Amino acid sequence: IQLIAGNAHRALAEAISTEMNVPLCDAHVGRFPDGEIDIKIDDDVRGTDCFVLQPTCPPVNENWIELLLLIDCLRRASAGRITAVMPYYGYARKDRKDEGRVPISAKVVANTLTRSGADRVLTVDMHAAQIQGFYDVPVDHLYAKPVMIEEIIKLGIENPVVVTPDVGGIKMARSYAKVLDADLAIVDKRRISGAEVAVEHVIGDVKGRNVIIVDDMISTGGSISGAADILKKHGAKQVVICVTHAVFCGPAVERLTACAADHVLVTDTIPQRVEGQPAKLRVVSVA
Ligand code: R5P
Repeated sequence: IQLIAGNAHRALAEAISTEMNVPLCDAHVGRFPDGEIDIKIDDDVRGTDCFVLQPTCPPVNENWIELLLLIDCLRRASAGRITAVMPYYGYARKDRKDEGRVPISAKVVANTLTRSGADRVLTVDMHAAQIQGFYDVPVDHLYAKPVMIEEIIKLGIENPVVVTPDVGGIKMARSYAKVLDADLAIVDKRRISGAEVAVEHVIGDVKGRNVIIVDDMISTGGSISGAADILKKHGAKQVVICVTHAVFCGPAVERLTACAADHVLVTDTIPQRVEGQPAKLRVVSVA
């Protein structure tokens, strides 16, 4: 096995390497003076089982191109099998034409990844699981749920209700509810723009109950902070946010700090800056 890390998330790559007791491959992934990507893999990879550790997190476009070039480099060096390990899969939110004259970005990036030479894709809590069908190679779709459930148990949340912050997340919420033997509730959300949502109703009973809001990602934090606030207004006791991908753009950190949630659990699929994060934030490793 060879583990090859791009620049997207060195800390996660090192954590995976430690967990597996396999050192990271010697490779240079730098930049030419004009900003183009400069790659040279120093180890012999001929015939080996190569795992490219490169979530396509922000800066999304940079990280996607690095991933494609790393895979091309391995293919041309006669690697035996190449797996793109993308714990966070960027561009997953654009998986269909939901209005006229827009691209299906998730299909475009899937095409380029396949054509670059990836034999397999490994990802975690992909926003739209049907993106697996954009590939003719196997896609291993893993879940953060096992490590998240361990953390929820450590918090000692009793008799919880699992809540999805929008109807699209019902399947994920139900899978948590099943493991926790919990009831289910839904927050009715309407998206106004990329950064603004209107959170209007709660479907289900949360009065006097501890709630765990489950979602795949926090982008600007509007959906999750709005859900936390409305659940407290409806009489919820402790509110725990449990989200796999902490994209945290724009006002996300401020919204999470100000919202009514008592705990925010996220994973390390995306690198997190240490300073300035809300004290209620806990980062769980998927390594
Ligand atoms: C929506 O379908 C996703 O699951 C997330 O709820 C959404 O992307 C979060 O966006 P934001 O944090 O900007 O509200």
